[in-house]
Amino acid sequence: MQDVKNNPEYVPGHGLLKGKSVLITAAAGVGIGFAAAKKSVEEGCRAIVISDIHEGRLQASVDKLKEETGLQNVWGKVCNVVVEEEVQELIAFAEEKLGGVDVLINNAGMGTSKLLIEMEDPEWNKVIDVTLNGTMRMTRHMMKVMKPRGTGVIVNNASVLGWRAQKEQAHYAAAKAGVMALTRCAALEAADFGVRINAVAPSLAVHPMLKKSAPEELLKELEGKEAFGRGAEVWEVANVMMFLASDYSSYMTGEILAVSAQRA
Ligand SMILES: NC(=O)c1ccc[n+]([C@@H]2O[C@H](COP(=O)([O-])OP(=O)(O)OC[C@H]3O[C@@H](n4cnc5c(N)ncnc54)[C@H](O)[C@@H]3O)[C@@H](O)[C@H]2O)c1
Repeated sequence: MQDVKNNPEYVPGHGLLKGKSVLITAAAGVGIGFAAAKKSVEEGCRAIVISDIHEGRLQASVDKLKEETGLQNVWGKVCNVVVEEEVQELIAFAEEKLGGVDVLINNAGMGTSKLLIEMEDPEWNKVIDVTLNGTMRMTRHMMKVMKPRGTGVIVNNASVLGWRAQKEQAHYAAAKAGVMALTRCAALEAADFGVRINAVAPSLAVHPMLKKSAPEELLKELEGKEAFGRGAEVWEVANVMMFLASDYSSYMTGEILAVSAQRA
């Protein structure tokens, strides 16, 4: 095979979210969530609320976002998407600070690795509760708020594992398949009042936390399955989120876009 490198250059903003307000969950890490927050600002959003379960990292991320982008209309609010009251408080907070949320990015999701025959209920339930139920809670309450306005966009973060099989991932894959089904069904209901809901399904987005938590061998194996021989940069996934959040995707709802370079 010809040795062609696939080294993408960071894409500057093109005003895709000009004048919009954005709310993102699980955005205080070093992964897709924070990358999506930064991209949103670079794409011209006028104000943003970022949220996360981790209070210390959240404040640091608010400061970092302000510093790196220059936007001062940045707020942080702690929210564990598993807790119904915290979800409602987050949405009320964002509505007030932003004067209405135009774009919600549901990024929260978590996984572990465990063979199904060794899986106990608490581990199964936790992954489902954060990844699927958390997305459902955020979507449900955001739809209620967006409905009377007759406008708004929701972007969910699924995974190619919602379609594909991988050992030790039954809980996570089931949760992400659920996020895909939720996206399709909620989109159909939300279309009645002018709100669009789509999802990205990344295959592998490599970041420092993933490198720390996943065994090196597994990461190598997964990277080897990608046609480019590498995982995505987190901002490459965020780019596709920006497309789905923007008016460029105005005729799309209930769709799941794979952000993947996998071999067939
Ligand atoms: N990284 C990948 O290769 C990959 C691939 C496919 C899908 N995804 C999905 O992308 C999303 C982001 O993952 P990432 O790996 O880029 O990391 P990330 O940094 O974007 O997200 C991790 C953050 O989630 C927060 N979090 C964890 N539980 C939470 C909860 N209950 N409520 C609120 N916040 C919580 C953590 O504190 C952390 O800051 C997840 O939904 C993940 O399933 C990631």
